[in-house]
Amino acid sequence: MSHDLFEAATAAMAKAYAPYSKFPVGAALRTEDGRVYTGCNIEVASYPEGWCAETTALGHYVMGGGGRITEIAVVAERMARITPCGGCRQRLAEFAGADAKLYLCDETGIVETVTIGAMLPYGFEGGVLK
Ligand code: THU
Repeated sequence: MSHDLFEAATAAMAKAYAPYSKFPVGAALRTEDGRVYTGCNIEVASYPEGWCAETTALGHYVMGGGGRITEIAVVAERMARITPCGGCRQRLAEFAGADAKLYLCDETGIVETVTIGAMLPYGFEGGVLK
């Protein structure tokens, strides 16, 4: 079942716009009701203006109505077992609970399963701001 999320992330990676780094990344996340949202990284000639695959997927997730995220898969063409960057860990933790599963993938499938909580220990939480 989780392999289909890897496949969705891989399909998203094929759409990556990464002409500068040539480092395509794909991400896919699933909500508890079974919806799947995907994203690729999108680069910009002014390098800091580009953004990550996870961020694209989260944008689709928010526009699709949100909900409880149960699983996330990330894959990169040129790196086995990619882990989300620090900023994306924070963005994922904004919407996914600490117990959400994060699948780290290579080109064949899921290599390791961790949790969002394990990926961002002692992360800043926004509750105090509300
Ligand atoms: N990238 C992602 O899409 N997700 C990550 O978690 C790490 C990095 C992208 C950003 C940039 O387009 C390329 O990988 C090289 O840093």
